[in-house]
Amino acid sequence: MNVAVVGTGYVGLVTGACFSDTGNHVTCIDNHAKKIEMLRQGHIPIYEPGLAELVRRNVTSGRIEFTTDLPAGVRQAEIVFLAVGTPQSADGSADLSAIWAVADEIAPHLQPDAIVVTKSTVPVGTNEKLRERLQKRTGRDVDVASNPEFLKEGAAIEDFTRPDRVVVGVRRAAVAEQLHKLYKPFLRTDHPFLVMSPESAELTKYVANALLATKISFINQMANVCEYFRADINDVRRGIGHDRRIGFAFLFPGVGYGGSCFPKDVRAMVGTFQEAGIDPRLLESVDWVNERQKDVIPQKIREHFGELRGKTIAVWGLAFKPKTDDIREAPALVLIDQLLQGGARVQAHDPEAMPNVKQLYGDRVALFQKPMEALDQADALAIMTEWSEFRTPDFRQIARRLRQKVIFDGRNLYDLDAMHEAGFVYYSIGRPTVKST
Ligand SMILES: NC(=O)c1ccc[n+]([C@@H]2O[C@H](COP(=O)([O-])OP(=O)(O)OC[C@H]3O[C@@H](n4cnc5c(N)ncnc54)[C@H](O)[C@@H]3O)[C@@H](O)[C@H]2O)c1
Repeated sequence: MNVAVVGTGYVGLVTGACFSDTGNHVTCIDNHAKKIEMLRQGHIPIYEPGLAELVRRNVTSGRIEFTTDLPAGVRQAEIVFLAVGTPQSADGSADLSAIWAVADEIAPHLQPDAIVVTKSTVPVGTNEKLRERLQKRTGRDVDVASNPEFLKEGAAIEDFTRPDRVVVGVRRAAVAEQLHKLYKPFLRTDHPFLVMSPESAELTKYVANALLATKISFINQMANVCEYFRADINDVRRGIGHDRRIGFAFLFPGVGYGGSCFPKDVRAMVGTFQEAGIDPRLLESVDWVNERQKDVIPQKIREHFGELRGKTIAVWGLAFKPKTDDIREAPALVLIDQLLQGGARVQAHDPEAMPNVKQLYGDRVALFQKPMEALDQADALAIMTEWSEFRTPDFRQIARRLRQKVIFDGRNLYDLDAMHEAGFVYYSIGRPTVKST
């Protein structure tokens, strides 16, 4: 098929690369000229495992190309995916300006039977508004489908090519059939292709993210209560997780969720509740708990040291989660801001996100290529992202390099007994503090 993908970010580039890899011809379009230029020269503007190789393979075989020319990019397309950003606007709702701008620009250039598919996360009712808008601008009925994306950054290609499910929201069965053909190579293990109305599909995405965010805020609150009573959230997790109604997935306490999706999607869903006249207190609390959770490690550091001025804190992990370079709403940024405000010096390392942090903070944060180098002359280590390389470090080297043997672990990576034996003061989330002497 001839496919166009508008928006070449985390979702659009993965979508384009994966569809080209199954033999389609894909044109990826973005209005960010520098990004398109980089892609044309074979450079991948984001870090996502396996993506560079996948893109290069399909560029070489001529199945994927990149352009900033939106009209030319969609002119031949049978299916046009919209994968532009839908960030949070000032009032908390989803900012759909990129969706409308693209819709207006592509309308005169669409093939008569082209299908326009929203892959961006958009509030319920958007696909219908998009259909009306395209109808007005083209003077004919245009097929619009909702196809929310469930990929996770860090495992995006795996998620896209082996999806738990594919959801499409359509008004006509023939549109679902076209999309099914496109997705069929990824559904060989019998994972379901679920056809529903656009409204149900739009809500499915928000409900999924709202529930996942709720699980995180829930376990974080439980962790905080464990801490007060010197209980261990890991034991409580085991105690509840074996109940098959509860399970273990997505119930890890930490420093709060970040990233480009959960925070904005939960807030947009609050707006959807209000629009429906339903009290949004549940999701407002999820958001509120999460914002407070981002303050837990900074608070522990303040309490431990009293005065931050003159202290140096090493930070391991800056991305909002492992295996990505994405720092949007990352809890590590809240920590860095508070440390800098308090007059502390920050020495940080992240395997992939340092260029993005450098762009944001310039020289205000000292960045180190090796995690151990970030520890020299630091008064403590704070761990904010659970990259696998932080899981089994050489604790003797950590002890040697730090000025004081203090670790603030926002991801519960280490064993309490081992920390005690190694002589660390060790703070984690929802577990008793180890105060070795
Ligand atoms: N990142 C994720 O993990 C994820 C997962 C599922 C769904 N989503 C949703 O997918 C959408 C895209 O997310 P993302 O993370 O890929 O965002 P992103 O910011 O990485 O990419 C969006 C791209 O759209 C481009 N763009 C913006 N306006 C444009 C315009 N008018 N014309 C052409 N290009 C334009 C931007 O330059 C950018 O490259 C969002 O709605 C998001 O909520 C994201």
